[in-house]
Amino acid sequence: MALSRRSFLSRVGQAGGYSAAFLAMQGLGLMEMRAEAPAEVAAAPGSGKGVKVVVLGAGIAGLVAAYELRILGYDVTVLEARERPGGRNWSVRGGDTVKFMDGSTQRCTWDAGHYQNFGPARLPSIHPTILGYCRKLGVELQVEVNMTRSAHLQNDNANGGKPAVMRQVVNDTRGHVSELLSKSLRQGALDADLSADDKTRMMDFLRMYGPLDEAGKYGGSDRAGYAKTAGAGDDTGVLSTPIDMHTLLDESFWQGMLFDEQFDMQATMFQPVGGMDRIPYAFAKSLGTIVQYGSPVAEIRKTGKGVRIGYTQSGVTKSLDADYCICAMPLTILKNTPSDISAPYKKIFEQTTYANAYKVAWESRRFWEQDDNIYGGLEFVNVGCSPIWFPSAGLFSERGVLVSGYSDENDNEWFAKLDQQGKFAESRKSIERLHPGRGKELEKPMIVEWGKVAYNEGSWLRSFAPREKAPGVALTRQTGQARNPAAARTETDPAYEQLIQPDGPIIFAGDHCSHVVAWQEGAALSALYAVNQLAEKVKMARLTEAMGNVLG
Ligand code: PHE
Repeated sequence: MALSRRSFLSRVGQAGGYSAAFLAMQGLGLMEMRAEAPAEVAAAPGSGKGVKVVVLGAGIAGLVAAYELRILGYDVTVLEARERPGGRNWSVRGGDTVKFMDGSTQRCTWDAGHYQNFGPARLPSIHPTILGYCRKLGVELQVEVNMTRSAHLQNDNANGGKPAVMRQVVNDTRGHVSELLSKSLRQGALDADLSADDKTRMMDFLRMYGPLDEAGKYGGSDRAGYAKTAGAGDDTGVLSTPIDMHTLLDESFWQGMLFDEQFDMQATMFQPVGGMDRIPYAFAKSLGTIVQYGSPVAEIRKTGKGVRIGYTQSGVTKSLDADYCICAMPLTILKNTPSDISAPYKKIFEQTTYANAYKVAWESRRFWEQDDNIYGGLEFVNVGCSPIWFPSAGLFSERGVLVSGYSDENDNEWFAKLDQQGKFAESRKSIERLHPGRGKELEKPMIVEWGKVAYNEGSWLRSFAPREKAPGVALTRQTGQARNPAAARTETDPAYEQLIQPDGPIIFAGDHCSHVVAWQEGAALSALYAVNQLAEKVKMARLTEAMGNVLG
């Protein structure tokens, strides 16, 4: 008997669950297949009726999970340790207090309207899931300028410590490389690799790309900028003299130059108007009393029927029973939370290494805009605190908040060892290196060190391996894939494969449960994945019960 597509799909669905049906639909061409397709919840609205779920943590993963579960009809409660939603998504403003676990506090006194996103601070356009939620929740976005060619690069050990402008470094490097390639072609060094035709084409290309003159020489280019810009009358301007190749290669002077070539750093990038925390607050508004603040989890127990979560609220010990738990707490915190979570997961919590990213931010006159034509973007130094990150909001206003120093303290022990004043001094020094004379304009410093923040104790998963084996993920030189936190583990890491399996009624979520580590996109995707796993379990449990009724 020929099967209709519909009954075929429902049979696939019965046998293999929603995900199988989903794949079959894609295979039949009934669903769009896009590389960037946002993950979707495959269960039907209302399918969660009568099922209680507790979500641990109101970071992006927890909020997305709760939002989707509610649509499916589940009875959801989110337990959040802090008095605010967002987790690492944290925007600090004047009047806020930053408190570390060592008891130290900083009071932020920035002018009204200024803020710093000490956690996530950019949304790549290739992250459709989190951008999709911004659209749905009405979070207004603006462009985040990740790269400007007016930014500076500096290295104490190269070029006498003199800063160079990005457009010059980029274009002079390109010119020199093109000239060398052109020379090799002319000398016939590549004749075995290129046909005569392609050789001619390549020469044409290099003349344009370099740009090179007829003789194949790079003699500078207006792409690299002007020593003195052109004006009216007979003022034709003076081109900058090319930086010689030796200097460009000196002490990796070019580090930072390729930063925005990374897949997730390319224009166009976005940020919410008013602060990254507009995202969690929009979720929180939508979820209302589903999110219980000031409710740190004390223990996670399995009851046989589901879970029992012990927590405190205003100092009172409470407990909550649920059929399932989506656990979106950081692994650093789970490690020290008493629980019935199975041994293989606990071993992962034990062995995992987190990065301890920090950011130092200052309020200042916008000297970068007013004196250097720099509007947004990042700058890099090779020694000291790096990168510098200028605000994309409030362009052309008088003052702003900039970052000087954003890196992993695990990779910068020299920095980690300093006291707070020493850290601020180093941060100020970086500005002085890049913008001599401007360091003294920096005021009201604030630092967030994620390794010292309660309920986080780390910024993001660095490796599933212990510290001594964890590969370095330096943020200061954000030039290549190997340094991307998302590359901190491979797809086949057995720890990861374990972590994304439900532990009975407990399903883990968070960017660490995705291949997009250290991005809100990863957190959102992992939440959708967890919700689908949960819906699958509920469906199976219902089926088993129905079969029991029929047979019994
Ligand atoms: N998403 C974070 C950021 O944009 C951390 C990160 C840094 C992720 C570099 C990938 C590469 O800063």
